[in-house]
Amino acid sequence: MKTTKQSATELMELENKYGAHNYHPLPVVLEKGEGVYVWDVEGKKYFDFLSAYSAVNQGHCHPKIISTLVEQAQKLTLTSRAFYNSQLGKYEEFVTHYFGYEKVLPMNTGAEAVETAIKLCRKWAYEKRGLAENSAQIVVCENNFHGRTTTIISFSVDPDAYTNYGPYTPGFIVIPYNNANALEKVLNENPNIAGFLVEPIQGEAGAFVPNEGYLKACYDLCQKNNVLFIADEVQTGIARTGKLLACDYETVHPDILILGKALSGGVYPVSAVLASNNIMEVIHPGQHGSTFGGNPIAAAVAISALEVIRDEKLAENAYRLGQIFREAMQGLCASSKVATSVRGKGLLNALIINNSGHVDLAWDICVKLSENGLLAKPTHKNIIRFAPPLVITETQLMECIGIIRLTMEGFE
Ligand SMILES: Cc1ncc(COP(=O)(O)O)c(C=O)c1O
Repeated sequence: MKTTKQSATELMELENKYGAHNYHPLPVVLEKGEGVYVWDVEGKKYFDFLSAYSAVNQGHCHPKIISTLVEQAQKLTLTSRAFYNSQLGKYEEFVTHYFGYEKVLPMNTGAEAVETAIKLCRKWAYEKRGLAENSAQIVVCENNFHGRTTTIISFSVDPDAYTNYGPYTPGFIVIPYNNANALEKVLNENPNIAGFLVEPIQGEAGAFVPNEGYLKACYDLCQKNNVLFIADEVQTGIARTGKLLACDYETVHPDILILGKALSGGVYPVSAVLASNNIMEVIHPGQHGSTFGGNPIAAAVAISALEVIRDEKLAENAYRLGQIFREAMQGLCASSKVATSVRGKGLLNALIINNSGHVDLAWDICVKLSENGLLAKPTHKNIIRFAPPLVITETQLMECIGIIRLTMEGFE
């Protein structure tokens, strides 16, 4: 008979043998989750400090969200948009009121929602602003991450993301992030700019927080030039950064808001594009869609997921615990040769590792962290992102800080 240990190895081998190698997971095989915890197939318990890239903000298997999922799954799962369904309208009313928009276009994944926003922006530019056919340009930022479709990787600056996937979609202008002057310059030079697509904090780039005032300055420039300000809050949204939206820090109300990930509490792929009537009305029946977009499970689950964020005050918790976490990490960095700095907002944070002596140091630290009971993943070789579920308590956070300190000591 096989032991459980063999079974973990076997399960990893199965993924390696039969799955495409488009990810490089840490060697843990998870089979259960509850709140901030996950358990592997051997029963070892971990703190989840990745939260599925901020999709599980409400914690693993949140009972309210799961019961909505199960209840709806037993009633009706998918109708397609060929018919109305009993959940979609209720969700559309709820989500538009929740975020202060007039209309929502429901999709499934983050990348699909970004694609939707790009299409919407282009169509608006031709039909409302009167730009000449095929002339519209969208400004994006260096080190962006907006997903993996062919159009989206066409404006990535990460060679891993774009190499050998050409030919690429034209119509994008890349400018430096955190530089409103660069946006102003390009807007002055080019009359065909239809939109500015930006992450309020660059998550995949390693929780890179722009200077205070950057988003507002860009928003004002867009307003002045009749250009749509499009915020990709797929990772930063839904309370992750200590406010409902990261844009809320600068009271910026994006013309187009893109949401995904935690919109469903991580139990189901749900994404959304929100905008005004004036923008959304350029799309007519048959011009855009998705078989699963707006399905009854997604609609019901998303309402529950957003209710949990509000009722459990998760933005407030992320704000408060984020400050405690960064303070502790600053203390750690002050006396460390390995950890150089910490950055982030709310509970989207990153520890920068000095890997000049050993390029895979951040990976090795993450392996050790997992052995010590905390799961995190490096991004860009020398950055460790720390993003626990927002239901984490102060006591749990202090325990996690202890694990991180202890682990780092072993690398000094
Ligand atoms: C800012 C941002 N936009 C879009 C995406 C793509 O979302 P998905 O993986 O659901 O397609 C991500 C995923 O990490 C993201 O961080």
